[in-house]
Parts: sequence; C-alpha cells; structure tokens
Amino acid sequence: MSTKATMEKIVSLSKRRGFIFQSSEIYGGLKASYDYGPLGVELKKNIKETWWRDMVHSREDIVGLDCSILMHSDVWKASGHLAGFSDPLVDCKNCKERFRADKAPLAEAGSEIKYREGGKSDGKKLTGTVDERGYVCPVCACPDLSAERQFNLMFRTSLGPVDPLQEIANAAEELAALDPKGRMQKLSEIMKPSAVYLRPETAQGMFVNFKNILDSSRVKPPFGIAQVGKSYRNEITTSNLTFRTCEFEQMEMEFFVKPGSDEEWYTYWRDARLEWYINLGIKPENLRLREHEVSELAHYAKACSDIEYFFPFETQNGVGEWGELEGIANRTDYDLKKHTEYSGKDLSYFNSETKERYVPYVIEPAAGADRAALAFLCDAYDEETVVSPKGKEETRTVLRFDPKIAPIKAAVFPLVKRDGMPEVAHKIVQDLQKAGINSFYDQSGAVGRRYRRMDEAGTPFCITVDSETLENETITIRDRDTMAQERISVNGLVSELIKRIRDE
Ligand code: GAP
Repeated sequence: MSTKATMEKIVSLSKRRGFIFQSSEIYGGLKASYDYGPLGVELKKNIKETWWRDMVHSREDIVGLDCSILMHSDVWKASGHLAGFSDPLVDCKNCKERFRADKAPLAEAGSEIKYREGGKSDGKKLTGTVDERGYVCPVCACPDLSAERQFNLMFRTSLGPVDPLQEIANAAEELAALDPKGRMQKLSEIMKPSAVYLRPETAQGMFVNFKNILDSSRVKPPFGIAQVGKSYRNEITTSNLTFRTCEFEQMEMEFFVKPGSDEEWYTYWRDARLEWYINLGIKPENLRLREHEVSELAHYAKACSDIEYFFPFETQNGVGEWGELEGIANRTDYDLKKHTEYSGKDLSYFNSETKERYVPYVIEPAAGADRAALAFLCDAYDEETVVSPKGKEETRTVLRFDPKIAPIKAAVFPLVKRDGMPEVAHKIVQDLQKAGINSFYDQSGAVGRRYRRMDEAGTPFCITVDSETLENETITIRDRDTMAQERISVNGLVSELIKRIRDE
C-alpha cells in the first residue's frame, strides 16, 4: 500500500477525476452501487482486456465463453447455491443495524461491554454482557442481538408473462387460512415456476457448457474455459467503495485436468496468478498468498488460496487491512459430477488415444475486476513534494499506473492556442487514436497545470507541441514518473509510445 493512500483520498480523487461515482447520486445514491466514470471505465476495461489477453489470447490451452446471466434454476440446485449460498444475518436490538455474524467485531463471551442507547453519540450510557456467540454490533458495539438466521445471497426474479405477485393476490384467502409453515410452502409453490436467479458467479456457465465446448472446439484436458462478466449477490454488508458490492464483475477461468495432475496444476495457477498482479505493477509487499485452513475450505474444494491485497481501509487498529482479490481453488470433480447427476447428461471425458474415461478435476482462478481496479488505484496512488517553475514547493498527486492499464496513455498539449499548434496537436491525437493509443487533447491553462491534471489521471506520457515542432517536426515527451522530458521526431512518436507502453 502507498503509505500516502487513504480511502478518503481515493474516494475524493475518484469523484474529482471521474474514476468512480456513487450510483444514482442525484437521487441520493443507491447503497453500495457505483458507476465508473470516463477514467474508471478505461481502467477497468484495460484490466479485463489484459486478463483476457494473458489468460486466453496468449495461450493455446484456454478458450473463451460468454454466458447469459439468467440460467436454468436447476443449475443453482446442482451447484448448491439454492440450498447453501447464504450468510448468517443478525439484527442489533439497540441501533437496528443488520449485519453478517461472521464479519462482526469479536468480544469475549461473558465480558461487559459499554454502548450508547440507539447507537447515538448523545444516547444514554448502557452496559451489556456478550453472549456465548462472542461478538457485538459493528456499529454501536451493543451485545443485545437477535438470533442468527441464514439469508440467501441470490437475487430472485421471475421469467415469463406470469406475475407471481398477481398469483399471490389471487391466492390471498387460501394463504390466510394456512399456518406460517404452510403459507411459506404455498408461496414457494406459486413462485417456483417462474423463478430465475441472477447468477452469483460466472463459474457455473463454464461447467454447464463443458460438453458443448469439448464437442465444438477440439480441446482436451488439460484445458481451460475463461469468462469475464457480471455477477450479483445480495450482500448484507457492503463497504469500502467497490470492494464489496451487490453487482460486480468477475474474471474466472475453469481449468479441466486429469485427476492426479490436479495438485501440480493448482500450484501452477496459484503462483502464475500472483505473478500477474506483480507484473502489472502492484508492489509485491502489498500482496500475499493466504492458503485456506482445512476448516475454511468450501464443501467442493480440496485446496484454496486467496491472493490478498493490503487495502488502505480504516480499521479499529488504524489504516490497512488485507482483502481478497482472487481465489484459486482445486474444485475437484465436484461440479461436473453434480451437473451430471442433476441434468442426466454425461460430463466425463473420453481420451480416444489411451481409451481412458474420467471426470476432470477443475482448478479455478476466480478474480474480481472491481476489486482489482480498486487495488490498482490504491497501489498507484502517490504524493510527492516538488518545486514549481516559480520555485514554490507543492504536492504532486500522481497515479503511477503501469502504462498497460493506464486509462489515458498519452496527453497532447499545444504550448499555446495559436500559430497552428492546436491543429498539429489535434493531428497527433488522431494519429495516436488510429494506432490504438488512447489519447487526450488539452489546451487549457498553463502547461504545468496540464501536467498535474494528467499526473492525477495516471497518464504516463505527455506530448507537447511547441515552436520547435513547427520548425523541425519534433515534440517533447514527458515521463509521468521521472518528469524528464525528451525531444523526438513526430514521425517516430507512435512506435516510441508503443515500445514504452509494452515496456520493451
Ligand atoms: N467461482 C468462485 C467464486 O465466485 P468468490 O471468492 O466468491 O469465488 C471470486 O469470488 C472473486 O470475485 C473474489 O475474489 C472477488 O474479487 C470477487 N467478488 C466476490 N464477491 C464480490 C462482491 N460482493 N463485490 C465485489 N467483488 C466480489
């Protein structure tokens, strides 16, 4: 983590420069939903495209897929999401906060805890005893809490012309005559025929298309199917900008291997994925691999590691907390076997050379594009003291993105707004755009201020058109990190920038 980044600064910069905005802000905002502004959308797109290039286009053993978000409800029965994808939900009886029991602050069972009535700073001082569950309300620290109840995280909606609300209204009399258990049963009967769910992960799309891809793409284990797309979870606790939201994008890959080779491939992907973040510029000291304890493993996993980033989140112990960026799991043959059981379709693989038939094991690197974007933003953030041309000390805020993921690669400035310089600068922008280098034209304010604006946007290169350009067709390139300037010929600019962006 940059020692200078705080979430307050990241949130403020995100809004000021157009990385991330609160969703529906003019209506007061929607809880934990965010929109990516002009710079944010480029950053996230670059991360997803780099992931796709590294995971699909630069390999011979991985193919891509783009599944629909709504899938057959039986997919979620087979995967276990309908029965078990839930979090323990608790209500605070004092301040009415609703929170996840497994994320609540711990307190010693039997100890006395002080809190304020209603959770208000001027509320009456009260004392309560922590019960055997050993945690308190995350907002007011009150230990007087409701019982835990399981809350399914999937968003349910209905497909087709039948409105389940109308059906419920039609059955109102019958429902009123039933006891609560019977009423729930009747309601679920009414909802069931049209119920569909927004996918909570992209992974299941790869499992249910396993046979389609085997039959159509001439792949054979070991091979992978990759997908980037939105997933939805009705998260109880959302926090820290885009870290945990109800709508988010995943970058997942399911790698199908012969049983017995799974442990080797698990180690391979775990290490390769950690390297990916480091190669894209995240400081190694802000990353760690955390191997799950056996007791932590999901029911389908034989092994799992999280790649964690040290985010500048505020905690009780100060700034900084490890948070999961990506999980790498050995999912065994669980998913293919479950989908075989529920669909009745054989999802085994037959090797016609060795005459062997087996259900492949799956190694899954599952990353989040929003969490990755937040981590890259936090890690790139830097402040330094510089001396202005007038000899004054000032703070330079700079996002030191790797050029590959920087939202804008080059900004082009005419030194002055006359003598034909704007025309030359516009022409350079067009040439760069044609070459696929996302560029930005800026002629407003002093050049020094334009540099500062681009530093805050994380733009690695600034090109200035000046009077010498008009004489000998040369421009200056200023490097964001060193602030050094170099004069080169306009003709060589595209190839020079491509070289620098690719880090050749
Ligand atoms: N198929 C396995 C799977 O979905 P996961 O650990 O639940 O595993 C994978 O999710 C990644 O998706 C996480 O490491 C995280 O980056 C991202 N993710 C999960 N829930 C999220 C949420 N509520 N908000 C933002 N990102 C989330």
